Amino acid sequence: MKVLVIGSGGREHVLAERLARSDHVKKVFCAPGNGGTAAIAENVPLEPDAHQDLVKFTKECHIDLTVVGPEAPLCAGIVDQFQAADLPIFGPTQSAARLEGDKAYAKKLMHAALVPTAEARSFDRFEDARTYVATRDTPQVVKASGLAAGKGVVVCDDPADALLALEDIMLARRFGDAGTTVVVEEKLTGPELSVLAVVDGHTIYVLEPSQDHKPVGEGDTGPNTGGMGAYSPPPIATEAIMSQIEREILVPIVNGLECKGVPYCGLLYAGLMLTAAGPKVLEFNCRVGDPEAQAVLPRLRSDLFELLHATVHHQLEEVRLQWDPRPAVCVVMASAGYPCPYEKGKEIRGIETAEALDGVKVYHAGTKRLENRLVTSGGRVLGVTALGDDLAAAQRRAYEAVDCISFEGALFRRDIAARAIG
Ligand code: AMP
Ligand code: GLY
Repeated sequence: MKVLVIGSGGREHVLAERLARSDHVKKVFCAPGNGGTAAIAENVPLEPDAHQDLVKFTKECHIDLTVVGPEAPLCAGIVDQFQAADLPIFGPTQSAARLEGDKAYAKKLMHAALVPTAEARSFDRFEDARTYVATRDTPQVVKASGLAAGKGVVVCDDPADALLALEDIMLARRFGDAGTTVVVEEKLTGPELSVLAVVDGHTIYVLEPSQDHKPVGEGDTGPNTGGMGAYSPPPIATEAIMSQIEREILVPIVNGLECKGVPYCGLLYAGLMLTAAGPKVLEFNCRVGDPEAQAVLPRLRSDLFELLHATVHHQLEEVRLQWDPRPAVCVVMASAGYPCPYEKGKEIRGIETAEALDGVKVYHAGTKRLENRLVTSGGRVLGVTALGDDLAAAQRRAYEAVDCISFEGALFRRDIAARAIG
């Protein structure tokens, strides 16, 4: 089988790497891929938004399965275009991906399906939103309803900040059209949890849970990023909590979509907060998390191709997955300045030394090869993953590996998984 992975981040590197290990897979292509995927796959110079070029390439190269990494092409309908051309593709259709691409719509669905989530109101008019936040005296969270690369959420501990966030999103249009509608919701408190599930339209298979670290600074300080590190499994995700999440959140939302004639097929990511009143949804995403993928997928012992293939062919019911019981910790190394503007082109050294450590794998995100050198080419540069006998051992090993790697200005948090270890 030939497989195409669309995207260029750390998530796509781990997807490509796990697919390349499958006995069924002869060759993996990545469009466009990065410096890491180039070593295990063939990088194809096609961007994820070039849907028709990707369809053409897939036909010409007789690709057996396409896997979409990022949300933007899913929300723009790449799956519908592949399906119209009769090409197998893993991911939800445009109408199902709206669960991520339109937060106001996702809230409506959650209310209709009685899925626990923060109390919220949606607004298209700045004046109405302003009047609403003026009447609140508790902390609010202001969210651009559309896609904003994980940066469109402002947590406002001081209710006065909610007005500034509204002005920024609705008047200054900081996130462009993504902020035409805003969702204003109550601030929840509690530990966060990322739950990834594979769904074939009807059957739901929940993967091992993980926890992301969104703020750039240690102790969860500073602005939110795409994610500075993740670990799996978090001890807070007990069996009882996981089955409650499946029963009260995943099943009703998938059934709710099915009843609307929008079957969900692909990866469903629930970003949750474990509040005193039980797990509540912060957001749904329509694809694998990044860097959650770099902590969860290295623990998957079963064949990833078989899982994705079964999903696309609506045969998930027959799948049973084997997991490595050892926990994994992934530490993201980013460019100095990230998530604000940063420089590129810094030479990266030491990856081979890091990967020589037992249980360590380095996933590339913003890297590219320039002749014989590997250089930085993005905000998040690497995801350094280590498995260990327990979480503390995995964390120690991950930081040993990080300390082998250098590039100018490398930015990373020293406290990934620290809260769980204590
Ligand atoms: P989202 O992209 O909606 O998951 O939001 C990004 C981050 O903002 C989350 O990971 C949380 O840390 C925070 N957040 C979002 N919604 C809320 C909420 N209702 N209460 C508290 N924090 C939130
Ligand atoms: N790590 C958060 C996300 O992938 O959305």
